[in-house]
Amino acid sequence: MEPDFLLPDCPVFLGPVAKTLPIWLRKNSYTQVFIIADSNAHNCCASLLPALDAGVHIVQMPALSGRVGGAERLKNLETCAQIWSAMLHARLDRKALVINFGGGVIGDMGGFCAATYKRGVDFIQIPTTLLAMTDAAIGGKLGIDFQGIKNAVGVFKNPRAVFVDPDFLETLPARELRSGFAEVIKHARIGDPALWQKSRRSRPTASPRAASRPPNGSTSSAPPLPSKYAS
Ligand SMILES: NC(=O)c1ccc[n+]([C@@H]2O[C@H](COP(=O)([O-])OP(=O)(O)OC[C@H]3O[C@@H](n4cnc5c(N)ncnc54)[C@H](O)[C@@H]3O)[C@@H](O)[C@H]2O)c1
Repeated sequence: MEPDFLLPDCPVFLGPVAKTLPIWLRKNSYTQVFIIADSNAHNCCASLLPALDAGVHIVQMPALSGRVGGAERLKNLETCAQIWSAMLHARLDRKALVINFGGGVIGDMGGFCAATYKRGVDFIQIPTTLLAMTDAAIGGKLGIDFQGIKNAVGVFKNPRAVFVDPDFLETLPARELRSGFAEVIKHARIGDPALWQKSRRSRPTASPRAASRPPNGSTSSAPPLPSKYAS
């Protein structure tokens, strides 16, 4: 399976992750797969899990909910402690794989936890917001907020791969879509004149599926995970 883009040390795969990820996992033998997802990415994650059932052991963190203030409020040392505890509890060894499934908050924090657990285990990014797909999941910048300072503590480490599946944007609220699109415009303005012209003519529109979702932070629409996937 060839990547769609090859960034330094990091292949990027585009398209349905339920197809690409199982193939990639079969090529890379991991002892365990540990998924970190937040509650809003939970639905997407649940639909993906059966496709991952290719002989890997899956341990899922309890969904991190994005209460008032969004998922950013969870990007801190306390949540990292929960994640590291769950990793220890699952007896993750150094040959395990961590999958960060969510927006930039999950990618930054989950990557940081993976990069520091037992001096570093492999991780991949499966971004589910436009901002994470176009920016946060790319480049290996990982970290958390500390003492009120954004990204005060962190490391640089590339994921083993990034899987970008635009289908996940179907449930993304208009506000988050606009926030990601602003980032696209910024990058286009700085370094891609063709994309800049194209983006000037585009208007991001949220899918009706996103519009029918409950307000940001509620988890009521997320079905419970099958018990075999719960930690
Ligand atoms: N590492 C980097 O290079 C880099 C670059 C830019 C931003 N960031 C970081 O990224 C974070 C912001 O990322 P973000 O904008 O993705 O925010 P986020 O991770 O907070 O996600 C925004 C909201 O969307 C929800 N969500 C995620 N996927 C969804 C889906 N498919 N459907 C419905 N809801 C969904 C989340 O639960 C959250 O409430 C910040 O912490 C910022 O510091 C990092």
